[in-house]
Parts: sequence; structure tokens; C-alpha cells
Amino acid sequence: MREPRPPSPGRPAAAHKLRWVSARDRDWDGVRLHVVTGKGGTGKTTLAAALALALASGGKKVLLVEVEGRQGIAQLFDCPPLPYEERRVAVAARGGDVHALAVDAEAALLDYLEMFYGLRRAGQALTRFGVVDFATTIAPGMRDVLLTGKATEAVRRRVRPERAARRGARDEARAPFVYDAVVLDAPPTGRIARFLNVNAEVAGLAKVGPVRNHADRVMEVIRSPETVVHFVTILEEMPVQECLDGIAEVHKAGLNVGGIMVNMVRSPLLDPAGLAEAADGAVDVEAIARGLRAAGLDRPEQVARELSGEVVEHARRLRAETAARERLTAPGRPRYALPHLGEGVDLAGLYRLAEALREQGAA
Ligand SMILES: Nc1ncnc2c1ncn2[C@@H]1O[C@H](COP(=O)(O)OP(=O)(O)OP(=O)(O)O)[C@@H](O)[C@H]1O
Ligand SMILES: [Mg+2]
Repeated sequence: MREPRPPSPGRPAAAHKLRWVSARDRDWDGVRLHVVTGKGGTGKTTLAAALALALASGGKKVLLVEVEGRQGIAQLFDCPPLPYEERRVAVAARGGDVHALAVDAEAALLDYLEMFYGLRRAGQALTRFGVVDFATTIAPGMRDVLLTGKATEAVRRRVRPERAARRGARDEARAPFVYDAVVLDAPPTGRIARFLNVNAEVAGLAKVGPVRNHADRVMEVIRSPETVVHFVTILEEMPVQECLDGIAEVHKAGLNVGGIMVNMVRSPLLDPAGLAEAADGAVDVEAIARGLRAAGLDRPEQVARELSGEVVEHARRLRAETAARERLTAPGRPRYALPHLGEGVDLAGLYRLAEALREQGAA
């Protein structure tokens, strides 16, 4: 599904770096924050996890961050619910670790109060009185900046920052990053631009002071070429439309559009000519019945009619999928096809999806 693509305003310059010297062609070299969005239920959490595994492969350290408070990552990796703490959840192919963090707004607010005001204990008292709820409910922008703030902090975090800082700013800048990449399992397409555009969201809230500074630092990471927003979709009309609208909106907000992950792609059961005929309803029911009769099956005519109905439906669905896939070429972004796993997504399935992403150059 990948094809050559020209640079576009949404494509970070870093993604082209080293293309000719790299043994394999990786689309997102230089990107350290991968935001994964898409229509609800299309596989955001699944593909964010698969992308984290793919990026970690070969000895890297990757953090997978969840912000919707649903413990989807723990379920996927078959581990107990994640506390508000970075935990290793998987070892990637050819070495490398995936760590995960389930961020919740309340815990992030306590962190924040402690970081800027030394107020952890007071903060805990505040949560008992529901003040945190109050603050994050009346100011949803505040809630988002707390969540994105955790992800961007992990992107910037360097090994032993205190030690490096003591040796002077130049050393601090040279200390290696704790994580090679961070993958954010983000809110759905309808909310993504607002979620990421925290700067605008807190603008009405704080013009100066620590909240403002914090929002500025978060925004700096999100707008940098180190961050891209990937879109997950399935080949159906509504999700594809949402994907295209989301891409336009994210691009308009001045953020970098990443790739399109086309999830749950099914393999055709017939050759192209057979598919075209079946989609037009031209299935030789009598030939199928003859085959069934020769195989000694009961009620060959009825089974043949039912089977041919399924073949027509399959062919028509594939025709619709082809049209949907065609529409996804319009934004000119890299596209990746991820197979539909008939047996559902277990841990082995996640590794298969990660491998598919790697084979297509996404990591
Ligand atoms: N490639 C695939 N093959 C088969 N099933 C899949 C695949 N990808 C995802 N699924 C299944 O689809 C369902 C939805 O996936 P997932 O939870 O990742 O979507 P989501 O976009 O994160 O949903 P939500 O909007 O609820 O957060 C899950 O049951 C998941 O196991
Ligand atoms: Mg999800």
C-alpha cells in the first residue's frame, strides 16, 4: 500500500533524514512523539500498542501513554490495571522495551501542584473536597494540558537530569533521552485538534504564570517536527470521512499530520476478475451446486444459493473498500495496511501488527 510521496507542509523535515543511508526505509526517523487518533472503535488503542512495539524493536525504549482512563493497555498486554506509574509491559522483537502509563487528570494535577507550588499534601486534601473535579470540569482545557503535559514531559525527559544540570547546560542538552519515543493513545478524531491545541485552550484561563508557561512548553513539543499525529481508520465510509476531516483539521491547526493506518484489512477470496463478476451479482449458482453435489453434500441447491449470496456480499464489500482506500490517497500521507485478525487481538496478534508496521516502514 505504500507508495512514493512528495514532502508536504504537514510532513516534518526530520522524516526524510538519512533515508539514503538507512538500511531500511523508516518513515518517522526523528519523530519522538507519535499521537494516535481515529474514529472511536477503529483500533486506536490496538495500533498505538502495536506501533510502540514496532518502535521499540531492536533495543529501543518506548513509552505508551493512555489518557482515556479505560485501562485498555493493561487489557491488551494482559497485565493487571496500570497504576499511575510507568511500568514495563512488554519486550519487543529483537530486544527493546515498551513501558506504559495510564495518566489520569487528577493524579496529573497533584503532580502539577507539587511541581509548581510544592503543594502535594494540600492537593490531596483538595481532591477529598472535590476541588480537583471542579477545576478540571470548569476548565476542560486545563484537564487536557495536564494529560498532554505528562506525555510531553516524558518526551523531553533525559537520563539523570540533575547530574547533567550540575555539569552545566551544555551537558544537560547532551544527556540521552530516557525514551527513544513516546506513543500517545489519544482521544478520537472529533476531539483531537482541541486536545492537542492546549495553548488556545488555556489562553482564556491564564495569561501569565506557571500554567501559561507549562502550556507553552507542552505546545512547543507538540508543534515541533518531533511530533506527528497518525490516523487510524477502517475502510468504511464514515470512519474514512472522519479520518479525512480530522487530517484537514489537524493540518489547519498547524500540527504535523503523520500516517494513515488502515486497520482490519481483509484479503480477497477471489481473483480480481471473479470479484468484479461477483460484485455485479454474476455468480454461477448451478456450478457451485454441481460441485457440492459431487462432494456428496446434503441440500446442494440451497447451500449453493446461500454461498453465492455470501460471495456477492464479500465482493461488494471489497469494491466499497477499494473506493474507500482510493479516497485515502487524497491527503498524500504514508498509508499502512493492517490485517484483520480473525481470531481477535491477543498478544501474538499485537506482535503481528507491529511486524506489519515495521515491514511497511512505519517504524
Ligand atoms: N486488526 C484487527 N483485527 C481484528 N480485531 C481488531 C483489530 N484491531 C482492533 N481490533 C478489535 O477492535 C476492537 C476495537 O479496538 P480498539 O479498542 O483498539 O479501538 P479504539 O479505537 O481504541 O476504541 P475506543 O474508541 O473505544 O477507544 C477491539 O475489540 C479490538 O480487539
Ligand atoms: Mg481505545
